[in-house]
Amino acid sequence: MALDQATKKELCKQAAAVRKFAYAPYSKFPVGAALLTSTGKIYTGVNVENISYPNGICAERTAVFKAVSEGEKSFPAIAVVTPNGGTPCGACRQVLAEFNWEMLILIGNPEGEILRETTLADLLPEAFEPGQYQLS
Ligand code: THU
Repeated sequence: MALDQATKKELCKQAAAVRKFAYAPYSKFPVGAALLTSTGKIYTGVNVENISYPNGICAERTAVFKAVSEGEKSFPAIAVVTPNGGTPCGACRQVLAEFNWEMLILIGNPEGEILRETTLADLLPEAFEPGQYQLS
């Protein structure tokens, strides 16, 4: 699914806008994500930290779990905005690969502009994803 420029911009804009809801009192690194469904909906997510540090969750996984909880499973693209142009962590890449290993990944800046476009296949080569899994 080729994405038009307006949709890409909208995803980055929403990922930047939702950062204000990030709960990141420990890292002070607010992250926002905006996940597109093939039905045209956008689910946003933020990182939600916890005083018991490992129990926090990243923005990307929040967005995926929100969307899947509402019946969505087809995700052509996600936009991610961190304070510094960072890319999704390894755990988030794995969770995204569950649904679309070729997902478009847009990296935006806090102003909502597109900094970079890449794909999950580039960020997570040779992923262990459902297409590879066979019971013998
Ligand atoms: N974080 C995300 O939400 N997404 C990423 O792609 C990278 C890291 C969060 C986790 C933690 O709350 C904070 O950023 C610092 O690592």
